[in-house]
Amino acid sequence: MIKIFKAFLLFLFILCFTGQSEAQQKPGDFTVGNKAFLLNGKPFVVRAAELHYSRIPKEYWEQRIQLCKAMGMNTVCIYLFWNSHEQKQDVFNFEGQNDVAEFVRLIQKNGMYCIVRPGPYVCAEWDMGGLPWWLLKKKDVKLRSLDDSFFMERTRKFLKEAGKQLAPLQIQNGGNIIMVQVENEYATYGSDQKYMETIRDAVRAAGFDKVQLFRCDWSSNFNNYKLDGVATTLNFGAGSNVENQFKEFSKVYPTAPLMCSEYWTGWFDHWGRPHETRSIDSFIGSLKDMMDRKVSFSLYMAHGGTSFGQWGGANAGPYSAMATSYDYNAPIGEQGNTTDKFFAVRDLLKNYLQEGETLGEIPAAKKVIAIPTIEFKEVASLFNNLPAVKQTENIQSMEFFDHGWGRILYRIKLPKVAGKSKLVITELHDWATVFINVKAIGKLDRRRGDNTIELPEGSSNAQLDILVEATGRVNYGEAINDRKGITEKVELVNGEVKQELKNWQVYNFPVDYNFQKKAKFKKGVTGGPAWHRATFILTETGDTFLDLSTWGKGMVWVNGNNLGRFWKIGPQQTLFVPGVWLKKGVNELIILDVDQPSNRTVKGLTAPILDKINPDESLLHRTKGQTLVLNNELPIATGSFAAGSGWKSVLFDKTQRGQYLCFEAVDGQSDKELLAAVAELELLGPNGKAISTLKWRIIYADSEEITSANHAADKLFDLQESTFWQSQTTGAKPGYPHQVVMDLGEQTSLTGFRYLPRSDGKTDGNIKNYRVYLKQQPFKL
Ligand code: GLA
Ligand code: CA
Repeated sequence: MIKIFKAFLLFLFILCFTGQSEAQQKPGDFTVGNKAFLLNGKPFVVRAAELHYSRIPKEYWEQRIQLCKAMGMNTVCIYLFWNSHEQKQDVFNFEGQNDVAEFVRLIQKNGMYCIVRPGPYVCAEWDMGGLPWWLLKKKDVKLRSLDDSFFMERTRKFLKEAGKQLAPLQIQNGGNIIMVQVENEYATYGSDQKYMETIRDAVRAAGFDKVQLFRCDWSSNFNNYKLDGVATTLNFGAGSNVENQFKEFSKVYPTAPLMCSEYWTGWFDHWGRPHETRSIDSFIGSLKDMMDRKVSFSLYMAHGGTSFGQWGGANAGPYSAMATSYDYNAPIGEQGNTTDKFFAVRDLLKNYLQEGETLGEIPAAKKVIAIPTIEFKEVASLFNNLPAVKQTENIQSMEFFDHGWGRILYRIKLPKVAGKSKLVITELHDWATVFINVKAIGKLDRRRGDNTIELPEGSSNAQLDILVEATGRVNYGEAINDRKGITEKVELVNGEVKQELKNWQVYNFPVDYNFQKKAKFKKGVTGGPAWHRATFILTETGDTFLDLSTWGKGMVWVNGNNLGRFWKIGPQQTLFVPGVWLKKGVNELIILDVDQPSNRTVKGLTAPILDKINPDESLLHRTKGQTLVLNNELPIATGSFAAGSGWKSVLFDKTQRGQYLCFEAVDGQSDKELLAAVAELELLGPNGKAISTLKWRIIYADSEEITSANHAADKLFDLQESTFWQSQTTGAKPGYPHQVVMDLGEQTSLTGFRYLPRSDGKTDGNIKNYRVYLKQQPFKL
């Protein structure tokens, strides 16, 4: 018996420590060679799959990794989200769900290499792009900048901690980490080469001193700075023309290997915006092209997962928060399910395996269950469950009350209010209900730029409450410095008379389960913001999708796990519940709804609803019957664009000034063209550089396609080259001319503009003749 046991142990030992996997087990290396990456001296094409361990319950990590291997990948690419590892300053957590080293070892165990992207900034539609909110406690903090010694010191410290976890797993040490990224798409934010050199050195000093480093940028901006000793890679989206993408790059780096470090398989969803999809045929062609050219790639995302809890980020401007699901229309669905896209990738990549590589088996699917209707019979009103009060003379954002995420209530006794007064809030981040004597008088939404509310009669000496819900910090662009709550002031305005309100009482509502469970629940119903509690019994567990379509806006906890945000405006109506968070027997569900449910029930569905947008909230940029009147207007520029892809620049004859800009597409490149499409429109200021888009707002678009995919007009200034505004193609297909009118937010001097046609490989909608109008006053609509 003992003998058999010993033999068994030996067998286990052999299984663990010998070549059952293809990824490195003994020290090796991965370097940049002549036009190829070299793995242990031999040319190697990286076929990576991006996964975010923070977006996948730990119990499911291995199944997701195995799915990537089965799709034909040899590498998994990961981000580290600094803010989930250091939620409180100096308290580092690399355990459990945060055990990144374990995740990397699992990748190795499954025969794959790993690419690590530790930040400090990562973007990723994650709160503040991965930066910790507590950096914002420093009033004048400069993020991603050498000019801020606090930011740099905290960055070094985090990288050091990341290094302690992962440096032992560099390939040169016998691990599977073949590359480590420095920062993330820095050229979309700045051009300070010194900053990037400092981050590069900090990554090395953190222990990543042997592994190949790289950086990622875009074909249009990678040359804005240089970074010695670091490979350069480019990011681009589904359907891009691969040859064009690398044209400039190959001139600058003629002997460098080519890699698309983020090949976008789909796209992310915003609340109140149509669900994003990218068709299989739009992206598989360029993937084949990359394989034929031996271009390394990483699929962003191979499997997106879920931004559980408070982790979803936002874009700005205009401010637009991310949905909770990060399904991304990726090849592997949110629940770890295979899709047609998955099989399309697998079918393609099986033809490109390299020596010694095999296609992994498809692991078993995770069980899905339906849960019958659950009724909520217990309630706890928010106003009856206020936490300890804090006093402040000047209103301040959440961060200054040591409060990272959730809701904040600002309370004050109003002075005497003369008739027809209003409140003006500077600035509201992000969504609020305003109450007079605990009665709601209106809601304000940052997405629409709301900042004003009329006070009703009888507001004199009344109790004013402003309940603000934060919906994700901006994760991209110059607005990442995004404090929550009310950032500056609240004024009582009557005609010309303005009075700043001072001496507030403040109540903080964090997102931790321990806080929610303290609410005093009672049987019954209540109006207004409240927690609702129910229990339900399960005889079997499995993944499910909780249908919240009859609820307003808020967050859900199941057995203490925060499922994330919901919002009735859609497009996401369900929240993913991993089966491992459920149990046989009694389960608890708490919903905090800061708005109002129409029906207090939920049920578990076997498939998600990710594409049901509340029609009132579609934010189309044209009301029914509205037309733009241009006959009395004179364009400041007319001309025609050359055919073909890539940026086109136009300089005006002289500097022009105005606040309202109309871009009119007169006709298309081909005679029969009806469609217009614009990926980006940049306006050039007096220094010839693109001006900030932060205050821009689309006020009119004659036509927008939002059915087949999200091609709304604001895509032309979302600073993403892969997204575009397109006139309608589903149902009606109106012809030229097509116009977009923008409010630039202030009177602005302009010297020209740049237009980027769509970059998904198609030419439909490419514009030939254009006219540009600029006015001090709004256009007639
Ligand atoms: C960029 C970023 C990623 C992600 C994608 C969009 O490429 O590097 O983190 O935000 O855009 O999904
Ligand atoms: Ca765009």
